[in-house]
Amino acid sequence: MRRLRRTPALRGLVRETEISSADLIQPLFVTTGSGIREPIDQMPGVSRYSIAELVEEAGEVADAGVPAVLLFGIPSEKDEAGSGAYDDEGVVQMAVRALNDNHPDLVVITDVCLCAYTTHGQCGFVRDGEVDNDVTVELLSKTAISHAEAGADIVAPSDMMDGRVGSIRYQLDEEGHPSTAIISYAAKYSSAFYGPFRDAADSAPVEGDRRGYQLDPANSDEAVREARLDLEEGADALMVKPAAHYLDVVSRVKQDTGAPVAAYQVSGEYAMLKAAAANGWIDERAAVTESLVSARRAGADFVVSYYAKEAARWLG
Ligand code: PBG
Repeated sequence: MRRLRRTPALRGLVRETEISSADLIQPLFVTTGSGIREPIDQMPGVSRYSIAELVEEAGEVADAGVPAVLLFGIPSEKDEAGSGAYDDEGVVQMAVRALNDNHPDLVVITDVCLCAYTTHGQCGFVRDGEVDNDVTVELLSKTAISHAEAGADIVAPSDMMDGRVGSIRYQLDEEGHPSTAIISYAAKYSSAFYGPFRDAADSAPVEGDRRGYQLDPANSDEAVREARLDLEEGADALMVKPAAHYLDVVSRVKQDTGAPVAAYQVSGEYAMLKAAAANGWIDERAAVTESLVSARRAGADFVVSYYAKEAARWLG
């Protein structure tokens, strides 16, 4: 086996998987106000930006060769029904318009969820102590429509309610947005690796957890069923999240569906890599490249990563 491993040229000939900047998506946090670039402690290199600063950062992301950004909004006010999420003048809607005006070629994806907009921090509308599925689906659909109206290319529902992809697809079509695509977070696990994100987006549940709607880390048959359902309901691409500890799920979903699959290298994965690198315990560039190519090898067509801009410069 070693004959073809002897030189870089030989290794290049037999390399099975490539990763490049074209396979990456950069998540970005956008907040209200102006002049804001607020670093997130647990995620060195990641900040919350107000709109003008977001536009600038997105320009750097695009210049690095990353084709798409995924937007998360941090609103100035929250309420029980998460109404900031579907406000046509909400922070994400305004950011989408600004990005389209300034970077027309950049693919703009919006996260569709209520957790950063609700006072209780759950991903949907709470009734009698439980997240009400169908009311939430209505509110998520309104959110997706308002993102599409602002000019989002792709909406990405991350809430894990049942039936939301079908409802969003139907309403996008009804409202005149047949070209707006849906990347569904089809297999989103109830994971401890979202911790830094919840601080960044101020979206941690005030009480309880998300196990009533996110997947149990012990299951993968269930992930495949979720993926099939989302495809039937009209998803254009499927996301598995987190990435590193769920590459078996990436592989199963890809093999089972043949659909475009994304892996999301989440905040906790990023924080671990950054922390180890800062201590000199791993070679950051090598470890990050390995983590990204591994997602591709498992079957992911593209990878959402907080490293996207930095890694794009390493990968070309
Ligand atoms: C919103 C959402 C979360 C993430 C993406 N969308 C948080 C959660 O479910 O708690 C996590 C992303 C990350 O950790 O990088 N529902």
